[in-house]
Amino acid sequence: MVHVLVVGGGIAGLWTAVKAADAGHTVELVTKTVLADGNTRRAQGGIAAALFPDDSAERHFDDTIAAGAGLADPDAVRVLVDEGPARVRDLIRFGVGFDRGESGLERGLEAAHSRARILHAGGDATGAAIESALVATVRRRAVRIDEETMLADLVVERGRVVGARLLGASGTIAERRADAVVLATGGSGCLYRHTTNPAVATGDGVAAAWRAGAAVSDLEFVQFHPTALDVPGTPLISEAVRGEGAVLVDRSGRRFMLDVDPRGELAPRDVVARAVWRRMVEQGGEPVLLDATGLGAAFLARRFPGLDAACREAGYDWSAVPVPITPAAHYAMGGVVTDLDGRTTLAGLFAVGETARTGVHGANRLASNSLLEAAVFADRAARALGEPFRGLRSREAASRNPVAAMAGFETGAARLPQPTGAVVDRAELQQLMWEHVGLERDAEGLAAASARLVSRRAPEVHDRRTAEDRNLLDLARLTIAAALARRESLGAHFRTDDVVTSDAAKEAA
Ligand code: SIN
Repeated sequence: MVHVLVVGGGIAGLWTAVKAADAGHTVELVTKTVLADGNTRRAQGGIAAALFPDDSAERHFDDTIAAGAGLADPDAVRVLVDEGPARVRDLIRFGVGFDRGESGLERGLEAAHSRARILHAGGDATGAAIESALVATVRRRAVRIDEETMLADLVVERGRVVGARLLGASGTIAERRADAVVLATGGSGCLYRHTTNPAVATGDGVAAAWRAGAAVSDLEFVQFHPTALDVPGTPLISEAVRGEGAVLVDRSGRRFMLDVDPRGELAPRDVVARAVWRRMVEQGGEPVLLDATGLGAAFLARRFPGLDAACREAGYDWSAVPVPITPAAHYAMGGVVTDLDGRTTLAGLFAVGETARTGVHGANRLASNSLLEAAVFADRAARALGEPFRGLRSREAASRNPVAAMAGFETGAARLPQPTGAVVDRAELQQLMWEHVGLERDAEGLAAASARLVSRRAPEVHDRRTAEDRNLLDLARLTIAAALARRESLGAHFRTDDVVTSDAAKEAA
């Protein structure tokens, strides 16, 4: 049995902690704020799994591969769709009350799914239901939980991870030894000025893994959600609303998605997000509108109670008027390279959930596959903790993304220069990423962003804010380098100056 340090309190971290404790390991879990704070509890649409008689793992596999635009790893997707239903049943055992109708579990439809297969809870509060069930479950286990404790860096000795340096609320950094560290720190949506993510999503695990020499990959693939409410904080309006029949219209009231893609509002997320973005540019930056008025007030209030309240709080009666929306950064497809059991290229280091690059999402994640990925691969990582630790060989990692391999990311070999200029300003960085590393990119803009950041220095780490700023700066520079290296458009990475039209990109177009 081993001593495991899990970093992160969302679905991936909680799942690993529960299953590792059940397997008899000694488990400690740290989280930088409080347990329930994070992206998981904000997940609205739900969790995708092939559980219904008119569906199959094969169909779910095909949809996931197609959305991934040629970059998804078929072996990882196979694991996801085959093991997904069992993990959903685990969630039910943990106490998640998925919504049910007269004929059993209710299911929703989301973009690029060929079947309605999205389970939801509390209408649009699926993440909250999962988070609270897992928090209750972990609290029933002998797991030590330290809140307000942030990962600063990993401790590496003789090429293997043996613990972490943790930043406490008082600003002191202490070393915590462990046989294995599992990174489950979520994504990095706060790299962008507009995001659906909470303030904690600063890519802490990916940045620390990178600094420790672990391979990272696919950072150029950032998913922008097409429909965030265009008010401060850009709250998410679930794709499930479009799945129920809401449509996108421009400022003249014209429905425009069918001009772009025959699947209309339910085309893959990258396609819809870019179409919304372009229409906004064409109308001088004015937001596009999401028209849910056809669904009726009673249905909206019952099926989407959280969104109904959020719209009203923002001053909109969405049952009566279309609401303004904008794309916003939502999910990182890239991250720390793992094998099918969460192992990274450093022995003793595992990564799960949005922190990991398992290969299931390719260049564009299929809606509602993220909670599923977190559960499936966290479960496998918890099982792998009982096996002798070995690092994923960099040769295995390098075969997956030739662009990252070229840039040296996959071997952890590429290092960033240590600049000596002004300390990075978070708002400036977020604006730069939004303008030049957003839904559409070109070499000129990427080079400009790179030039602006090249001299920016990370702050001395003495509290959570400075630790986050250092992580955001590392990740911004890595993301820009990855986006510059990939000169083709693929999935969520769209180069307006595309100079390489790969077969995969042609297929995805
Ligand atoms: C949504 O509800 O639209 C988000 C679901 C997801 O990101 O998979």
